[in-house]
Amino acid sequence: MNAFWSGYIALLTLGTIVALFWLIFAFRKGESAGTTDKTMGHSFDGIEEYDNPLPKWWFMLFIGTLVFSIVYLLLYPGLGNWKGVLPGYEGGWTQDKQWQQEIDQADAKFGPIFAKYSAMSVTQVAQDPRALKIGGRLFANYCSVCHGSDAKGSNGFPNLADSEWRWGGDPETIKASILHGRVATMPAWGAVIGEDGVKNVAAYVRSELAGLALPDGTEADLVAGSQVYTQTCSVCHGANGEGMAVLGSPNLTNSAGWIYGSTLPQLQQTIRHGRNGQMPAQEQYLGNDKVHLLAAYVYSLSQQAEHLAKQ
Ligand code: HEC
Ligand code: HEC
Repeated sequence: MNAFWSGYIALLTLGTIVALFWLIFAFRKGESAGTTDKTMGHSFDGIEEYDNPLPKWWFMLFIGTLVFSIVYLLLYPGLGNWKGVLPGYEGGWTQDKQWQQEIDQADAKFGPIFAKYSAMSVTQVAQDPRALKIGGRLFANYCSVCHGSDAKGSNGFPNLADSEWRWGGDPETIKASILHGRVATMPAWGAVIGEDGVKNVAAYVRSELAGLALPDGTEADLVAGSQVYTQTCSVCHGANGEGMAVLGSPNLTNSAGWIYGSTLPQLQQTIRHGRNGQMPAQEQYLGNDKVHLLAAYVYSLSQQAEHLAKQ
């Protein structure tokens, strides 16, 4: 803001405050006047007004707000280019500085706790109730938008609380998934294998690999589907559909771990147009120590799932 407009705003604001001071004192009736039966002489729809002084509490409140506004405008930026003199903020208060200060304070407070955990192995941390509590909070903040607050995922986002994994479920692999992110590429096959190929291989995946029933009246050639599978799909999904963790290509024999749906139209959609699931890398954003806690939290969820499954 140039000096003219800065001055204009400052003058207007301070002028208004001064004018309000003047107004309240100039028209104030002394306390001694006491109450009176005299009216102001005007009448609105028969309602008249007594000529009494302002109640004291109201008068003090009015003065209070004026004093508050002056103090506020001294401390915080508000008068044109004036930056304010709030202690602890070199060069004036800004929201960015306040945010940074709070982050620095939190880092100073929690940094040592996080560092303590990151010196332990993920498996050890996953045994520590306090660490899991912190991990759970971090998860709610940073991960639940995509994976759900119960970590059970949704369409397009994998369930992290079960024992099915696309990239691997051992502690270090989970940590790598979070730290560096994952990019999965299932190419689009529609143009390569044709519409018949898509229908046949979709039916083959659903019935022969995943062992799910085909809806009545499904028209598909499962032998042809099997051939398409061997020629086109097995490179990435494995000869028997078991998947390949290095590529993030899912196990096609177990639909419980699928994220794009298991109905024939959904399978055809996936095969025809491909999929491109992306897990955003957190290293830059959260740093190693927080990711370590998150990995332990996610690992503990899958351990609970396996434990329950065994019972
Ligand atoms: C180049 C490797 C590659 C080839 C070849 C490939 N896929 Fe995939 N496929 C993947 C990857 C990686 C994913 C995971 C995509 C994601 O997570 O977004 C995937 C996902 C899928 C899914 C979705 C599973 C789910 O989670 O919902 C199905 C179904 C599938 N592939 C079937 C096939 C079929 C059928 C073929 C052959 C026509 C095939 N794929 C060929 C790599 C491949
Ligand atoms: C923007 C959405 C998004 C956010 C936010 C996100 N994820 Fe993911 N995440 C994904 C997607 C999509 C995949 C699956 C990638 C694929 O298709 O293979 C994934 C995969 C994963 C995997 C690998 C799962 C497997 O089966 O191997 C882990 C572990 C994971 N996420 C943990 C986390 C954690 C912990 C956080 C919080 C820091 C998080 N994610 C935040 C979208 C997200």
